Amino acid sequence: MKPNESGYLEFDKVSFSWPNECNVIDQFSFSIGKPGLWMLVGENGSGKSTLFRLISGTIRPKSGKISCSLKPSMVYQNPDHQLLMPTCKSELMLSVPKTIPESKLLDLIQSALEKVDLREMLDRPIHTLSGGQKQRLALAGAIVSNSNLLLLDEPTALLDPQSQNSVLKVVKKLTSSSANPITAIWITHRLEELFFCDGAAIIKNGGISNWNSGSKVFQELKSLALR
Ligand SMILES: Nc1ncnc2c1ncn2[C@@H]1O[C@H](COP(=O)(O)OP(=O)(O)O)[C@@H](O)[C@H]1O
Ligand SMILES: [Mg+2]
Repeated sequence: MKPNESGYLEFDKVSFSWPNECNVIDQFSFSIGKPGLWMLVGENGSGKSTLFRLISGTIRPKSGKISCSLKPSMVYQNPDHQLLMPTCKSELMLSVPKTIPESKLLDLIQSALEKVDLREMLDRPIHTLSGGQKQRLALAGAIVSNSNLLLLDEPTALLDPQSQNSVLKVVKKLTSSSANPITAIWITHRLEELFFCDGAAIIKNGGISNWNSGSKVFQELKSLALR
Protein backbone atom coordinates (compact mmCIF):
# COMPACT_ATOMS: atom_id res chain seq x y z
CA MET A 1 0.00 0.00 0.00
CA LYS A 2 1.22 3.50 -0.82
CA PRO A 3 1.68 5.77 2.17
CA ASN A 4 -0.86 8.58 1.93
CA GLU A 5 -1.36 11.88 3.68
CA SER A 6 -3.62 10.47 6.35
CA GLY A 7 -1.09 7.85 7.44
CA TYR A 8 -0.93 4.09 7.33
CA LEU A 9 -0.35 0.97 9.34
CA GLU A 10 0.79 -2.17 7.61
CA PHE A 11 1.66 -5.67 8.85
CA ASP A 12 3.56 -7.89 6.45
CA LYS A 13 3.67 -11.54 7.52
CA VAL A 14 4.29 -10.59 11.14
CA SER A 15 4.78 -13.38 13.69
CA PHE A 16 5.30 -13.20 17.43
CA SER A 17 5.50 -15.72 20.27
CA TRP A 18 5.86 -15.28 24.00
CA PRO A 19 8.71 -17.31 25.57
CA ASN A 20 8.10 -21.05 25.47
CA GLU A 21 4.88 -20.68 23.47
CA CYS A 22 3.98 -21.24 19.84
CA ASN A 23 3.16 -18.25 17.66
CA VAL A 24 0.28 -16.31 19.18
CA ILE A 25 0.51 -14.00 16.16
CA ASP A 26 1.19 -16.15 13.12
CA GLN A 27 2.00 -14.43 9.82
CA PHE A 28 -0.42 -11.52 10.24
CA SER A 29 -0.79 -9.42 7.10
CA PHE A 30 -3.23 -6.53 7.07
CA SER A 31 -3.28 -2.83 6.47
CA ILE A 32 -5.17 0.30 7.39
CA GLY A 33 -4.66 3.12 4.95
CA LYS A 34 -7.24 5.68 5.97
CA PRO A 35 -8.77 7.12 9.13
CA GLY A 36 -11.81 5.40 10.60
CA LEU A 37 -13.03 3.10 13.34
CA TRP A 38 -11.66 -0.42 12.89
CA MET A 39 -12.81 -3.18 15.24
CA LEU A 40 -11.20 -6.46 16.24
CA VAL A 41 -12.94 -9.42 17.83
CA GLY A 42 -11.60 -12.73 19.05
CA GLU A 43 -11.78 -15.10 21.97
CA ASN A 44 -9.86 -14.57 25.20
CA GLY A 45 -6.22 -15.42 24.70
CA SER A 46 -6.42 -15.16 20.91
CA GLY A 47 -3.69 -12.49 20.80
CA LYS A 48 -5.58 -9.20 20.53
CA SER A 49 -3.71 -7.36 23.30
CA THR A 50 -0.43 -8.82 22.03
CA LEU A 51 -1.24 -7.33 18.62
CA PHE A 52 -1.69 -3.90 20.23
CA ARG A 53 1.70 -4.23 21.90
CA LEU A 54 3.26 -4.95 18.53
CA ILE A 55 1.53 -1.92 16.98
CA SER A 56 2.59 0.38 19.84
CA GLY A 57 6.14 -0.92 19.64
CA THR A 58 6.42 -2.24 23.20
CA ILE A 59 7.31 -5.67 21.78
CA ARG A 60 8.99 -6.52 18.49
CA PRO A 61 8.00 -9.13 15.90
CA LYS A 62 9.88 -12.40 15.72
CA SER A 63 9.63 -12.15 11.94
CA GLY A 64 7.88 -10.01 9.35
CA LYS A 65 7.64 -6.24 9.07
CA ILE A 66 5.47 -3.57 10.67
CA SER A 67 5.25 -0.19 8.93
CA CYS A 68 3.44 2.59 10.73
CA SER A 69 3.42 6.33 10.07
CA LEU A 70 0.87 7.00 12.80
CA LYS A 71 1.50 7.95 16.43
CA PRO A 72 -0.22 5.41 18.68
CA SER A 73 -1.83 5.86 22.08
CA MET A 74 -3.29 3.07 24.20
CA VAL A 75 -6.60 3.26 26.03
CA TYR A 76 -7.16 0.38 28.47
CA GLN A 77 -10.19 -1.36 29.86
CA ASN A 78 -9.84 0.16 33.31
CA PRO A 79 -9.36 3.95 33.29
CA ASP A 80 -8.24 3.87 36.92
CA HIS A 81 -5.08 2.11 35.75
CA GLN A 82 -4.38 4.89 33.28
CA LEU A 83 -5.30 8.16 35.00
CA LEU A 84 -2.75 9.37 37.54
CA MET A 85 -3.46 12.96 38.56
CA PRO A 86 -6.09 14.64 40.79
CA THR A 87 -7.87 16.80 38.18
CA CYS A 88 -8.67 16.74 34.46
CA LYS A 89 -6.34 19.67 33.84
CA SER A 90 -3.36 18.20 35.71
CA GLU A 91 -3.95 14.85 34.01
CA LEU A 92 -3.89 16.38 30.53
CA MET A 93 -0.85 18.51 31.34
CA LEU A 94 1.07 15.23 31.60
CA SER A 95 0.35 14.44 27.95
CA VAL A 96 1.09 17.84 26.40
CA PRO A 97 4.25 17.73 24.27
CA LYS A 98 7.13 19.70 25.78
CA THR A 99 7.35 21.81 22.62
CA ILE A 100 3.99 23.52 23.22
CA PRO A 101 4.52 27.08 24.52
CA GLU A 102 3.02 27.91 27.90
CA SER A 103 0.68 30.48 26.32
CA LYS A 104 -1.05 27.78 24.24
CA LEU A 105 -1.39 25.10 26.94
CA LEU A 106 -4.79 25.99 28.24
CA ASP A 107 -6.35 26.39 24.78
CA LEU A 108 -5.01 23.00 23.75
CA ILE A 109 -6.39 21.31 26.87
CA GLN A 110 -9.77 23.06 26.64
CA SER A 111 -10.13 22.10 22.99
CA ALA A 112 -9.29 18.44 23.74
CA LEU A 113 -11.88 18.40 26.54
CA GLU A 114 -14.47 19.80 24.12
CA LYS A 115 -13.68 17.13 21.56
CA VAL A 116 -14.49 14.39 24.07
CA ASP A 117 -17.64 16.10 25.40
CA LEU A 118 -16.06 17.12 28.72
CA ARG A 119 -16.50 20.86 28.36
CA GLU A 120 -16.29 22.79 31.68
CA MET A 121 -14.49 19.87 33.35
CA LEU A 122 -11.07 21.49 33.56
CA ASP A 123 -10.84 21.59 37.35
CA ARG A 124 -13.06 18.60 38.12
CA PRO A 125 -11.46 16.04 40.44
CA ILE A 126 -11.04 12.82 38.50
CA HIS A 127 -12.50 10.70 41.29
CA THR A 128 -15.86 12.42 40.75
CA LEU A 129 -16.08 11.37 37.08
CA SER A 130 -18.15 8.44 35.82
CA GLY A 131 -16.41 5.52 34.11
CA GLY A 132 -17.41 6.86 30.69
CA GLN A 133 -16.11 10.33 31.54
CA LYS A 134 -12.82 8.82 32.69
CA GLN A 135 -12.43 6.92 29.43
CA ARG A 136 -13.16 10.11 27.50
CA LEU A 137 -10.53 11.91 29.58
CA ALA A 138 -8.06 9.18 28.57
CA LEU A 139 -9.04 9.93 24.95
CA ALA A 140 -8.42 13.64 25.55
CA GLY A 141 -4.94 12.70 26.79
CA ALA A 142 -4.27 10.95 23.50
CA ILE A 143 -5.51 14.01 21.59
CA VAL A 144 -3.30 16.52 23.42
CA SER A 145 -0.30 14.24 22.93
CA ASN A 146 -0.91 14.55 19.17
CA SER A 147 -1.63 10.89 18.73
CA ASN A 148 -3.50 9.94 15.56
CA LEU A 149 -3.84 6.20 16.20
CA LEU A 150 -6.00 5.18 19.16
CA LEU A 151 -5.54 1.61 20.35
CA LEU A 152 -8.61 0.85 22.44
CA ASP A 153 -8.40 -2.44 24.33
CA GLU A 154 -12.00 -3.23 25.34
CA PRO A 155 -12.56 0.37 26.46
CA THR A 156 -16.22 -0.18 27.36
CA ALA A 157 -16.01 -3.58 29.05
CA LEU A 158 -16.40 -2.12 32.55
CA LEU A 159 -18.95 0.58 31.65
CA ASP A 160 -22.72 0.81 32.00
CA PRO A 161 -24.70 1.13 28.73
CA GLN A 162 -24.96 4.93 28.93
CA SER A 163 -21.22 5.38 29.47
CA GLN A 164 -20.54 2.78 26.80
CA ASN A 165 -22.55 4.82 24.29
CA SER A 166 -20.84 8.06 25.26
CA VAL A 167 -17.38 6.59 24.57
CA LEU A 168 -18.44 5.00 21.29
CA LYS A 169 -20.05 8.26 20.17
CA VAL A 170 -16.89 10.28 20.88
CA VAL A 171 -14.56 7.80 19.16
CA LYS A 172 -16.91 7.69 16.17
CA LYS A 173 -16.84 11.50 16.02
CA LEU A 174 -13.02 11.66 16.26
CA THR A 175 -12.60 9.08 13.48
CA SER A 176 -15.14 10.61 11.09
CA SER A 177 -14.72 14.35 11.68
CA SER A 178 -14.35 16.12 8.37
CA ALA A 179 -11.56 18.40 9.62
CA ASN A 180 -8.93 16.06 11.01
CA PRO A 181 -10.14 12.47 11.29
CA ILE A 182 -7.95 10.00 13.19
CA THR A 183 -7.61 6.21 13.11
CA ALA A 184 -8.90 4.04 15.93
CA ILE A 185 -8.56 0.29 16.40
CA TRP A 186 -11.05 -0.99 18.94
CA ILE A 187 -11.02 -4.46 20.51
CA THR A 188 -14.49 -5.48 21.60
CA HIS A 189 -16.48 -8.31 23.09
CA ARG A 190 -19.71 -6.34 22.80
CA LEU A 191 -20.89 -7.41 19.39
CA GLU A 192 -23.52 -4.66 19.13
CA GLU A 193 -20.61 -2.18 18.87
CA LEU A 194 -19.68 -3.70 15.51
CA PHE A 195 -22.49 -1.76 13.83
CA PHE A 196 -20.59 1.50 14.39
CA CYS A 197 -17.29 0.54 12.77
CA ASP A 198 -15.91 1.15 9.30
CA GLY A 199 -14.44 -2.35 9.13
CA ALA A 200 -14.00 -5.36 11.40
CA ALA A 201 -11.73 -8.39 11.49
CA ILE A 202 -11.72 -11.62 13.48
CA ILE A 203 -8.58 -12.90 15.21
CA LYS A 204 -8.59 -16.67 15.52
CA ASN A 205 -6.14 -19.57 15.65
CA GLY A 206 -3.14 -17.24 15.33
CA GLY A 207 -4.51 -15.55 12.20
CA ILE A 208 -6.46 -12.42 11.27
CA SER A 209 -9.34 -12.33 8.76
CA ASN A 210 -9.77 -9.74 6.04
CA TRP A 211 -11.60 -6.52 6.91
CA ASN A 212 -15.35 -6.87 6.48
CA SER A 213 -18.32 -4.72 7.33
CA GLY A 214 -19.25 -4.74 11.02
CA SER A 215 -22.71 -6.15 10.25
CA LYS A 216 -21.22 -9.04 8.27
CA VAL A 217 -18.83 -9.92 11.11
CA PHE A 218 -21.72 -9.64 13.56
CA GLN A 219 -23.79 -12.12 11.48
CA GLU A 220 -20.84 -14.47 11.15
CA LEU A 221 -20.18 -14.55 14.90
CA LYS A 222 -23.89 -14.95 15.70
CA SER A 223 -24.21 -17.92 13.35
CA LEU A 224 -21.10 -19.53 14.88
CA ALA A 225 -22.56 -19.08 18.36
CA LEU A 226 -25.80 -20.81 17.28
CA ARG A 227 -24.06 -23.87 15.92
N1 LIG B 1 3.36 -10.85 29.03
C1 LIG B 1 3.10 -12.11 28.62
N2 LIG B 1 3.99 -13.10 28.86
C2 LIG B 1 3.75 -14.36 28.45
N3 LIG B 1 2.64 -14.74 27.78
C3 LIG B 1 1.71 -13.79 27.51
C4 LIG B 1 1.89 -12.43 27.92
N4 LIG B 1 0.81 -11.71 27.51
C5 LIG B 1 -0.01 -12.60 26.89
N5 LIG B 1 0.53 -13.83 26.88
C6 LIG B 1 -0.07 -15.03 26.27
O1 LIG B 1 -0.35 -14.75 24.90
C7 LIG B 1 -1.61 -15.30 24.53
C8 LIG B 1 -2.48 -14.16 23.98
O2 LIG B 1 -2.76 -13.25 25.02
P1 LIG B 1 -3.45 -11.84 24.75
O3 LIG B 1 -2.75 -11.15 23.62
O4 LIG B 1 -3.52 -11.13 26.05
O5 LIG B 1 -4.92 -12.29 24.25
P2 LIG B 1 -6.29 -11.48 24.21
O6 LIG B 1 -6.01 -10.05 24.42
O7 LIG B 1 -6.88 -11.81 22.87
O8 LIG B 1 -7.15 -12.05 25.32
C9 LIG B 1 -2.18 -15.98 25.75
O9 LIG B 1 -1.88 -17.34 25.67
C10 LIG B 1 -1.44 -15.33 26.89
O10 LIG B 1 -1.29 -16.21 27.98
MG1 LIG C 1 -6.70 -8.70 25.86
